[in-house]
Amino acid sequence: MIAYREANAFDLPIFVSLDRELFPYSPWTAGQYKEEFSSPTRHFVVALDEANSIIGYAGVFAPGVTEADILTVGVVPEHRGRGIATALMALITNWASAQGSTAMMLEVKADNVAAIGLYESLGYLKLNVRKDYFGAGLDAQVMRLELS
Ligand SMILES: CC(C)(COP(=O)(O)OP(=O)(O)OC[C@H]1O[C@@H](n2cnc3c(N)ncnc32)[C@H](O)[C@@H]1OP(=O)(O)O)[C@@H](O)C(=O)NCCC(=O)NCCS
Repeated sequence: MIAYREANAFDLPIFVSLDRELFPYSPWTAGQYKEEFSSPTRHFVVALDEANSIIGYAGVFAPGVTEADILTVGVVPEHRGRGIATALMALITNWASAQGSTAMMLEVKADNVAAIGLYESLGYLKLNVRKDYFGAGLDAQVMRLELS
């Protein structure tokens, strides 16, 4: 049984180590996460396995009555394909909606088939491509979901 809860400062080292594993091209530092966690416009959630270990996480920036940005979403390889990212996305989207967000935006590595599949399954539409967004040769696909 997977449980979900809001992230807290004690989770920070896990976020940093999972970022290195899941996002080797753009991991966030402990300092960046510390700043993000302390902002009231950011919301992070985690998925926990039966042993209470973090196996997935997601975060969003929702500054108010405008677009919200998905900051991150990741699930450890052993637990993929079980709907965990879908559940995490629902939690942060509901939070952003409650803040008054009118749409969700994100940038995903253009060759990230799994993530693009996830976002399309949630109704996100492809907008433009940003060249070299994640570094030289690492383009980003920009995607958007209208919230009604
Ligand atoms: C992308 C990621 C978060 C998906 O997590 P997940 O828990 O396996 O996703 P879900 O089980 O909720 O999948 C939901 C839908 O996404 C799509 N999807 C998921 N994995 C996919 C894959 N490998 N290929 C194509 N579509 C995929 C499917 O439509 C799936 O629905 P289905 O199971 O009914 O077919 C996970 O693969 C991951 O952590 N990747 C590394 C980190 C990353 O790239 N994060 C995104 C950064 S923008």
